[in-house]
Amino acid sequence: MDPSFEAFETRLSANAREIETLLETLLSATVLDDEIGRPEQLRSAMHYAVLNGGKRLRPFLVVETAALLGGDGKAASRVGAALECVHCYSLVHDDLPAMDDDDLRRGKPTVHIAFNEATAILVGDSLLTYAFDIIASPETTLPEADRLALVLALARAAGIGGMAGGQALDLAAERQQPDEQGITTLQAMKTGALIRFACEAGAIIAGASLADRKRLRRFGERIGLAFQLADDILDLTSDAATMGKATGKDVGRGKGTLVAMHGLAWAEATLAEQVREAEALLAPYGKRGAVLTEAARFVAHRKS
Ligand code: IPE
Ligand code: IPE
Ligand code: MG
Ligand code: MG
Ligand code: MG
Repeated sequence: MDPSFEAFETRLSANAREIETLLETLLSATVLDDEIGRPEQLRSAMHYAVLNGGKRLRPFLVVETAALLGGDGKAASRVGAALECVHCYSLVHDDLPAMDDDDLRRGKPTVHIAFNEATAILVGDSLLTYAFDIIASPETTLPEADRLALVLALARAAGIGGMAGGQALDLAAERQQPDEQGITTLQAMKTGALIRFACEAGAIIAGASLADRKRLRRFGERIGLAFQLADDILDLTSDAATMGKATGKDVGRGKGTLVAMHGLAWAEATLAEQVREAEALLAPYGKRGAVLTEAARFVAHRKS
């Protein structure tokens, strides 16, 4: 294996362990100030939804973009953990019978199978809310204005104009095939918005210049699109044992994806182009951008 890629994978998994330790604490039974109680069944379902494997790519991007621009590592980890809560909520709801109706996630039964549907809905509600708690809390040791900027940016990325809106468009695309622009927009929303937030958050945490913030935002946009394109390729070419989730679902449900529209060869070539564009955006950082360059390659060439 390419030595720089091996170094990247080591760094990704070291970061994942750190984020998971933090998530363990955040999702413990300890009741926080002004919380009245933590119902045990809901808490353990939240724990199951979050601490069940997962690549932890989004927190990694927060931590590494913050590090690139000189941001505080501890604050970056908390923002990364908050983002992972939003991502895990999106997966729990995405798998519900009313949405993609999936039984397997990260190699285990989905939350509505392991618990029940009502619990899965409430896990989503609670994780989404908790993400804003984690960022707003004084334990995220950033100036108030930066915490506010992060809350606003995450709200915009997760809500009607971002992930949730994209999920609505994605479901509509099962009934009425969108055109290429329609698919690109829905993917930029359902998947791209949280990944773009991950990269922009690093710049906010670091108090970076507007130019850096915009550059990282564009980088996040490129790898966000690449991420969903790779997911759609893997849905067609991989298997459940490797992915930890069912495959062949998109064709089964008649999902409008770019892979369905243009075929695999086009998708692979487009992926390579998106990675090149992402890499080019990192040129101003020279060698310091290497780990994010590897992240862009990982997004495109991952096996699960
Ligand atoms: C899966 O995301 C959902 C999509 C946005 C395609 P990931 O592939 O990052 O899932 P985990 O977190 O590693 O399980
Ligand atoms: C999911 O897209 C995007 C989310 C916001 C969760 P998919 O429906 O393709 O994700 P998987 O394949 O189930 O992980
Ligand atoms: Mg879906
Ligand atoms: Mg799905
Ligand atoms: Mg998919």
